[in-house]
Amino acid sequence: MPESPIRKLVPYAEEAKKKGVNVIHLNIGQPDIKTPQVALDAVKNNTLEVLAYSRTEGSETYREKLAAYYAKNDIHVSAKDIIVTTGGSEALAFTMSTVADNDDEIIIPEPFYANYNGFATAVGVKVVPVISHIDSNFALPPIEEFEKLITPRTKAILICNPGNPTGYLYTREEIKKLAQIVKKYDLFLIADEVYREFTYDGKEHYSILQEEGLENHAIVVDSVSKRYSMCGARIGCLVSKNETITKTALKFAQARLSPPTYAQIASEAALETPQSYFDQVKEEYVGRRDLLIQELKKIEGVKIGVPQGAFYCIVELPIDDSDAFAQWLLEEFRLDNETVMVAPAAGFYASEDHGKNQIRIAYVLDKENLKKAVHILKEGLASYIG
Ligand SMILES: Cc1ncc(COP(=O)(O)O)c(C=O)c1O
Repeated sequence: MPESPIRKLVPYAEEAKKKGVNVIHLNIGQPDIKTPQVALDAVKNNTLEVLAYSRTEGSETYREKLAAYYAKNDIHVSAKDIIVTTGGSEALAFTMSTVADNDDEIIIPEPFYANYNGFATAVGVKVVPVISHIDSNFALPPIEEFEKLITPRTKAILICNPGNPTGYLYTREEIKKLAQIVKKYDLFLIADEVYREFTYDGKEHYSILQEEGLENHAIVVDSVSKRYSMCGARIGCLVSKNETITKTALKFAQARLSPPTYAQIASEAALETPQSYFDQVKEEYVGRRDLLIQELKKIEGVKIGVPQGAFYCIVELPIDDSDAFAQWLLEEFRLDNETVMVAPAAGFYASEDHGKNQIRIAYVLDKENLKKAVHILKEGLASYIG
């Protein structure tokens, strides 16, 4: 089982904190944005007397309202196409278990959300990476690169859109190319769309569930964690129009009984969040992204994959081992008794020796802290490379 590159350095950060050092976290996608009050109030004010299990597939009213949310986003599904899960994480695990047997293969453009490695290992599935490059901002690799990797064991292509850790937003044309190839080889197309709401520069998200003719192939993984800054609720869902998929995933869901009850109440209420909330949040993230890029550009020798969505970016540094550098920042480097924690990027790749000169930054801090963090990173880097 691989370690999470996002969490494995935590003991070093804790050690530094014990010594009174202020550690600024650029490593984890825990937004500082406030959870919508309507969601918190729904839990506070409810009158439940028994905190019971819910239905395995999630409460009926929540799934009905979720279907209405998707309709507003031009995604036409019904409650029966949705299985509520314990976070997008569980939806990912169910999806992989549903589409693949032991030793089957799933092709994933890398760098990808590191826990895909963990889930695939846990369910015995082999991740087959196809590399995307910082120089093209991590756009979809040529479709022939996917085609070359398809074997009789290939069951699916998995994308993250917008991407963690790249911030890349796939275009409609890229989704259409993927649709063609999965239809040609009769594969599933899995899209992790947990950052759907976070797209910038006037760009719009195009869901695989909007693509006509893909109904039997498309499986979407979703979550309330980032959309409403409700990471601790642990609510996500799996959405597919393919009945065999939802029926099979439901069997995995039955084994774990039900998703959490209070959190479904909060998530259902969160659907009432007004558009103005998202407009403000988006504006905030765009401001942070622009500041981050501007400050990073001041560091000599860095390359940046400019994000168009989500709230992460990959940064290439003039070093050869970002694991060692990230650990050194926590153990050795201090600027006015502060340091930064970054996620080394190698863990976001399945190919050996890739991403070793890259880190992932999550811009989930306010602008002042973000600016300070990049300054500390700059000074740290200068001191590290001498
Ligand atoms: C791309 C992506 N997918 C899925 C998840 C899992 O989220 P959760 O289980 O909190 O819904 C995350 C969390 O960071 C993520 O970044």
